[in-house]
Amino acid sequence: MDLAPRLGRPQTGIVLTGGASGLGRASAEALAAVGRPVAIWDLDADRSRKVADEIAGRYGVIAFGHAVDVRDPGAIASAAEETRRALPSIGGFVHAAGIVDTASLDGLTPEGFNAGIEIHLRPIALLAQALLPDLRAHAGSAIVAFASINATLGNAMNPIYSAAKGGVLSLVRSLADRLAQDGIRINAISPGQIRTPMMQPALDHLGDAAFTRRILLGRIGEPAEIGRVVRFLLSEEASYVTASEFVVDGGNISSQRM
Ligand SMILES: NC(=O)c1ccc[n+]([C@@H]2O[C@H](COP(=O)([O-])OP(=O)(O)OC[C@H]3O[C@@H](n4cnc5c(N)ncnc54)[C@H](O)[C@@H]3O)[C@@H](O)[C@H]2O)c1
Repeated sequence: MDLAPRLGRPQTGIVLTGGASGLGRASAEALAAVGRPVAIWDLDADRSRKVADEIAGRYGVIAFGHAVDVRDPGAIASAAEETRRALPSIGGFVHAAGIVDTASLDGLTPEGFNAGIEIHLRPIALLAQALLPDLRAHAGSAIVAFASINATLGNAMNPIYSAAKGGVLSLVRSLADRLAQDGIRINAISPGQIRTPMMQPALDHLGDAAFTRRILLGRIGEPAEIGRVVRFLLSEEASYVTASEFVVDGGNISSQRM
């Protein structure tokens, strides 16, 4: 029985959408901390490069920053080409790009609906397609897609966001069946409330207690607590884990606490 730690294996590179902020960045740092090269794909070119440079400097890994709008299939294809030139290998990706949506039913528009799907859901399939030759070429390749506890909990404020995140769970299960044929694993992570630039305005407006009163661990999560789980899912430690949802919410959707 081989029980040696495998958190840093394989040593293939990982693409992270939304990698310049919050949970994407925390995931990139966790991977870099065990020596894995990372490609930071984000909307803002300067921020992508700056974060990549900081990660390269802090952890001594190859880190490549690139501007990508994940709504644009052509941009995904050309970013894949650029990344192949910049990283020694690509053995996985993390789809963490996301936006806040508070339009509710009253403010819902066809454009807003499409944006929710085009940012949160569609890129998972397009990335898997574009990077399939790379993932197939390396043993132990794996994917993590960001869902949310909103995939399960109903919320009047953000039906499009919630539907897109629910779609992430079922897309992951279907892709897991196809990708397993090539030895590739894929899992979803569903964070609860985590202190990131996306979440901070709600925490400022409502206060932590509005959320923590029903969270069993009694606090808001920190980005590194998500990054470490993403790193685990992309490592050989998780070699028998696929098609799963990892809820990382401090005990939120399981809570009936009043
Ligand atoms: N923070 C939380 O509490 C929480 C909870 C559940 C789920 N999530 C999910 O986790 C993921 C990361 O969220 P976060 O809190 O780190 O947010 P964040 O706002 O800190 O980071 C999101 C990043 O995505 C990028 N992005 C947005 N649209 C993009 C596009 N079209 N193309 C490329 N990049 C784009 C942004 O520029 C930003 O850098 C999101 O999918 C979010 O829905 C977050």
